[in-house]
Amino acid sequence: MSIGIIVAMNEELEVILREMQKEKTEVRANMEFHVGDLLGKKIVAVVCGIGKVNSAICTQVLISEYGVSKIVNIGIAGGIGKDIVPGDIVIGDSLVQHDMDATAFGDKVGQIPRLDTFDFKSDKLLVDLAKGVCESITEHKSYIGRIATGDQFVADVEKIKWLSEEFNALACEMEGGSIAHTCYLNNIPFIVIRSISDNANTGAHMDFEKFKYIAVENSSNILKNMISNM
Ligand code: ADE
Repeated sequence: MSIGIIVAMNEELEVILREMQKEKTEVRANMEFHVGDLLGKKIVAVVCGIGKVNSAICTQVLISEYGVSKIVNIGIAGGIGKDIVPGDIVIGDSLVQHDMDATAFGDKVGQIPRLDTFDFKSDKLLVDLAKGVCESITEHKSYIGRIATGDQFVADVEKIKWLSEEFNALACEMEGGSIAHTCYLNNIPFIVIRSISDNANTGAHMDFEKFKYIAVENSSNILKNMISNM
């Protein structure tokens, strides 16, 4: 069975495509699914586009059409808290959707109504593998913790404070929570690994452009090292 690899940006896909033996590329839901081998493992690699709807659809196609047995999502994120700076890596062991709000019905913010879980847990073995790889191949710091996902590029100090207080999140991004949600419903192990590109504050969009390339290099290296051990 193959491993589904979801990346957010073309730059990350390019690194994978350079090193994979590609069998075929197919278009589903307007996304290109690249099927082949990477470092001896069968993979399906895809750029899902931005946001929760794109990433959820992409995840379901990987599961239903390509029968992947696990999913790895790499990409970038805004760091939360002063200790987490661009270049650092956050391995998400728990994912929440910060823009899910049914508090009017008494649910806690982030809780998806009528679902039997508050957060979505990454696969423990994959988390441990990712941590080991991060420690052995990069000098950047890596953290394990919660990632908060929403359809919003966060560039606001008040919002980061809220994400930290409400969810105890270490990073915010726009796809991980819905990938996790889709995997949870399908009972598929997953992991979300994000390199920090900005601090989600008022200068976030500028830092994002500046640090994007370090982040891409980070996540591509982590992915390659993980794949050989999966
Ligand atoms: N991805 C990278 N930086 C981000 C931010 N500040 N907010 C949401 N997604 C991001």
